[in-house]
Amino acid sequence: MFLDLVNSRQSCRNFDRDKIVEKEKLQYALQCALTAPSARNRQPWHYAVVSNVEIADKVRKACQMGKFNAFLDDCPVFIVAQERPQDAIQALSRAMKLQDFRPFDVGTSMACLTLALEEQGIGSCYIGMFDEKAIQQAVGTKMTIRMVLAVGYAKQGDPHREKSRRELSDSVDFLQ
Ligand SMILES: Cc1cc2nc3c(=O)[nH]c(=O)nc-3n(C[C@H](O)[C@H](O)[C@H](O)COP(=O)(O)O)c2cc1C
Repeated sequence: MFLDLVNSRQSCRNFDRDKIVEKEKLQYALQCALTAPSARNRQPWHYAVVSNVEIADKVRKACQMGKFNAFLDDCPVFIVAQERPQDAIQALSRAMKLQDFRPFDVGTSMACLTLALEEQGIGSCYIGMFDEKAIQQAVGTKMTIRMVLAVGYAKQGDPHREKSRRELSDSVDFLQ
């Protein structure tokens, strides 16, 4: 069931640094991410997959502050989610006072990405705390860095945590 997949995904903070993440599996997950819906089908995402040791080191450092995100020391791969600049169609939407949907679209794409990784037994963790300039430099982009995804296999025996979430009745109103 889809709920099983959603439940089995959890933020991995216990990576096995020695287990290589296969390129084909990353490609499959990214293909799923690229298939996500987006406002006016603008597909405002762009991904940099970082497994090169030196570049990964720079990305890692840009995501760590003191003891925060120290677990990334063992993370072998980073996927840097960038947001493309507004194009003419998006600018028109803006002029019509519609929302800028780009962050929403990138988030939707990343939800597909993380679940497609999970489906293949690969762990991930969203990293929202980062030095944007340092990451732009590391991956050689001028685009907005919307999110960093830490990717890798979890260490053997890494426990599965119970989900802690609001009740359905607290988050959903059925208006009948
Ligand atoms: C936008 C966003 C930013 C996040 N940033 C971090 C982060 O910098 N470090 C971290 O360890 N976890 C981060 N997380 C993971 C959340 O803490 C985690 O998703 C949440 O506690 C629910 O746990 P679960 O993913 O295991 O179900 C982030 C998650 C999201 C969606």
